[in-house]
Amino acid sequence: MKVDVLLGLQWGDEGKGKVVDVLTPKYDVITRFQGGPNAGHTLEFNNFKHVLHNIPSGIFHKDKVNIVGNGVVLDPITFKQEIDALKEKGFDITDNLYISKKAHLILPTHRILDAASEASKGKTKIGSTLKGIGPTYMDKTGRNGLRVGDILHNFEEKYAALKEKHIKLLEMYNFEYNIEEYEKGLFESIESLRQFNIIDSEHELNKYLKNEKSILAEGAQGTMLDIDFGSYPFVTSSNTICAGACTGMGIAPNKIGEVYGIFKAYCTRVGSGPFPTELFDETGEALRKAGNEFGATTGRPRRCGWIDLVALKYAIMVNGVTQLIMTKGDVLSHFETIKAATAYKMGDEITEEFPFELPENLEPVYTEIPGWNCDLTGLKSEDDFPEELNNYISFLENELEVPVKIVSVGPDRDQTIVRYLD
Ligand code: GDP
Ligand code: IMO
Ligand code: MG
Repeated sequence: MKVDVLLGLQWGDEGKGKVVDVLTPKYDVITRFQGGPNAGHTLEFNNFKHVLHNIPSGIFHKDKVNIVGNGVVLDPITFKQEIDALKEKGFDITDNLYISKKAHLILPTHRILDAASEASKGKTKIGSTLKGIGPTYMDKTGRNGLRVGDILHNFEEKYAALKEKHIKLLEMYNFEYNIEEYEKGLFESIESLRQFNIIDSEHELNKYLKNEKSILAEGAQGTMLDIDFGSYPFVTSSNTICAGACTGMGIAPNKIGEVYGIFKAYCTRVGSGPFPTELFDETGEALRKAGNEFGATTGRPRRCGWIDLVALKYAIMVNGVTQLIMTKGDVLSHFETIKAATAYKMGDEITEEFPFELPENLEPVYTEIPGWNCDLTGLKSEDDFPEELNNYISFLENELEVPVKIVSVGPDRDQTIVRYLD
C-alpha cells in the first residue's frame, strides 16, 4: 500500500479539511504531517460545522485512526481546548486519535516569542497567526525543542530550562508580556495530553502500510507558504509540500501514491506578502463576500484575487500532483467573466515560470473565460455542469496538464462531485 497525500496548492484555506473529511471513508488512517494550530480546517455535514486546528480532519469518522505525525508542532493548551470543545459537542476522540512522540511542543514562551518577533518587524511583519509556529520550528532545527515524548518523564524540569532560555531571548526585544497569562492551563493540558495514545508513529504508519491499510496524509497551509518554495520570507516555517509528508510521517518517498492538489477556483491569501493577482477593487470585495473569505483561525479578512496559473503550475511541479481538486467554483457563479493569470509581466520580460521573487512591478497577464452565471450549489453530478463550467475546467486542465478529479460546489460534505475520469 501507498500513502496518498492531499495538500494545498495556493496560500492555504483551499478547502483541505472539507475534502479530507469527504475522502476519509476510502481510507483506514488519516495523518497530519506538518504545521500546527495555525491551520484552520472547516468541516460541514448534517447542519454541523466545526473548525479543526491541531486534529486531523478524519476525526468525525469513528472507525478511522487519526494520527498527529512527527512533523507537526502541537500546542497542548489549544489542543486541550479543541478536545474539550469536541467533547461538548458529543465527540470523545481519545480512542481514535494517536500522537507522535516526536511531534514538537509549542510552549507559552514560543507564542510570546512569535508575538515579540512580529511586533519588532513593524510594517514588514509576516502576518503570523501568532500561534508560536516559527519559534517552535526554530527550536526544532536549533536542537533545543521539547517533544511530546518529553511529557512522559521530567517534563517540568525540561520546561523550566527551556523557558529560562526563552526569557533571555525575549530580553532582545522591547516587548512587554505577562507570562502567567500565556502559561495558564499549561500543566493541566499536559496532564490531559498524557491520556492520549502517544506512539512511535513512524513505526505504526509503516506497519499499517505493510498490513495493506490505506493512509491519507492531510497537508496544512499551502505550497505558496512552504518554507523553501513559498513567497519567502512571507511563509510558514514548515515544508508544506509533498516531500514534507515523507519527513513529517517517516514514510519513504517511494511509498507515496496519489498526490491530490487542491485549489480554489480563484485565489486568496491571509497575512502579508506578495499576491500577484490580488484585486483591490469591488471584484475583490465581491469574491470575499460571496466566498465568505475570513480566516478560520484568526477571523482576519482574506485577500482575494483571480486564479494564478503561474503559481499553480509551480506548485504542481514541486509536489508531483497527480490529481486536482477544485473548490469554491460556486463562489464564481455571478461573475460574467472570469480571469486567469497565465504569465507574469515584469518590465519588458514576460514569464510563465514562477520567479525567485515577486517584484512590485509585476503585472499578471490574464486570459478571460466566460462565467456560468448560475448557481452550482445544488449540483449532484458532472452531467449537470453548465457548459461554461466544463469549459473553465477544460481550460485549467489544458494549462496545468493534470486532470481535475473532484469539484466542490459548497462547504457541505454532500456538495462534492467526483468526475468520471480514467
Ligand atoms: P482549509 O484550511 O484548506 O481546510 O480551508 P478553510 O476551512 O480554512 O477554508 C475553506 C472555507 O471554504 C471553509 O469555510 C469551508 O467550509 C468553505 N468551503 C470549502 N469548500 C467549499 C466550496 O466548494 N464552496 C464554498 N462556497 N465553500 C467551501
Ligand atoms: P490552513 O491549513 C492560510 C499564514 C499566516 C501568515 C503565514 C505565517 O488553514 O490552510 P504562521 O502562523 O505559520 O507563522 O504564519 O502563513 N498561514 C496560513 N494562511 N491558511 C493557513 O492554514 C495558514 N497557516 C499560516 O497568515 O501569513
Ligand atoms: Mg484554513
